Amino acid sequence: VEETYIMIKPDGVQRGLVGEIISRFEKKGFKLTGLKLFQCPKELAQEHYKDLQSKPFFPKLIDYITSGPVVCMAWEGVGVVASARKLIGATNPLNAEPGTIRGDLAVQTGRNVVHGSDSPENGKREIALWFKEEELCEWAPVQEPWLKE
Ligand code: GTP
Ligand code: MG
Repeated sequence: VEETYIMIKPDGVQRGLVGEIISRFEKKGFKLTGLKLFQCPKELAQEHYKDLQSKPFFPKLIDYITSGPVVCMAWEGVGVVASARKLIGATNPLNAEPGTIRGDLAVQTGRNVVHGSDSPENGKREIALWFKEEELCEWAPVQEPWLKE
């Protein structure tokens, strides 16, 4: 099954947007399989964003992600990776469409409230990086027959 790692960044937690952001994925119909509030250590933030290591904003990005607790989530479903990226919106919130999380709730790239994996491979990699196996739940939502024919 396809899975994606979604994370509410420290600004989203500080601004009281946790419920609002979780709701968007919940209402869409994807399945939550992991959820925790977590203070991210520097090493984990660096590993998570290792592809951006050479960027000039990398140190600021690591400071941002470790500046307070984040909400870590694993979501599952057919097409969940690309769909979650659409729900989240463009990296720069000023370019993000209204109706998306960043389009509705943020104004700056450096404070764009939420992360979403950019490929199914990275979804698996990031979930394994942020969660222990026993923190993930396999379960059958009762609404499933009403979501899928
Ligand atoms: P994520 O879902 O967080 O991975 O964002 P993304 O996939 O839309 O963008 P990308 O992976 O390219 O960048 C990761 C994160 O680094 C962004 O979400 C921003 O928080 C931050 N970032 C990217 N570009 C810039 C930049 O030019 N300046 C600053 N300050 N932060 C940036
Ligand atoms: Mg990214």
